[in-house]
Amino acid sequence: MDRVLVVVYSCTGTGRRLAQLLCAQQQWPMGEVTEIRPRRGASGTWRSVIDSLFRRRPDVRYDGPAPEQFETVVLIAPVWLLRLAGPMRSFVASRHASLPKAAVLMVMGSRGAAQAVAEIARLTGRGPLLDAGFTNREVEDGSCAGRLQALGDALRTIEDPVVGVRPAVWSPQAA
Ligand SMILES: Cc1cc2nc3c(=O)[nH]c(=O)nc-3n(C[C@H](O)[C@H](O)[C@H](O)COP(=O)(O)O)c2cc1C
Repeated sequence: MDRVLVVVYSCTGTGRRLAQLLCAQQQWPMGEVTEIRPRRGASGTWRSVIDSLFRRRPDVRYDGPAPEQFETVVLIAPVWLLRLAGPMRSFVASRHASLPKAAVLMVMGSRGAAQAVAEIARLTGRGPLLDAGFTNREVEDGSCAGRLQALGDALRTIEDPVVGVRPAVWSPQAA
């Protein structure tokens, strides 16, 4: 069984950039959640607001390696209205029974990561191995790289059966 798979949903590219950097740093494969009905312009943003307000689960597809063939998934998604972005909600809700243990990285303007992480924990029925929030600015200017590397390295340690240390949550920056 392979070790770690990174699964991202990204509407405007920030989460995808973070996912690509993490995969490049750790040599991990990536899968992507996309929408059957993509969001464009003002109507797309408005739909995101409504989805968040009512915790809707829009139709999504997943392209990538099967998550159940990995020991761990790293879920990466945006915060919308202090909640988990709807498409990642759909993905987690539809696959929670077969998803391996998860680490969760949220991207956001400034706040709301903790609430979105809590939503994933409710959907999966267990807390993440580790979680963290990254701002748009950190991802765009590249200053996220060091912390992301440390998180990936920590996840390897948590998952190392020889070391065998598994803290429930290791969050260097609760947001
Ligand atoms: C409808 C909507 C709601 C948002 N709500 C929040 C929020 O509550 N807190 C926050 O910090 N950023 C919020 N954002 C900003 C996004 O989380 C941020 O731009 C994120 O990096 C987008 O990720 P993506 O480029 O991977 O789609 C919101 C964006 C949209 C479109």
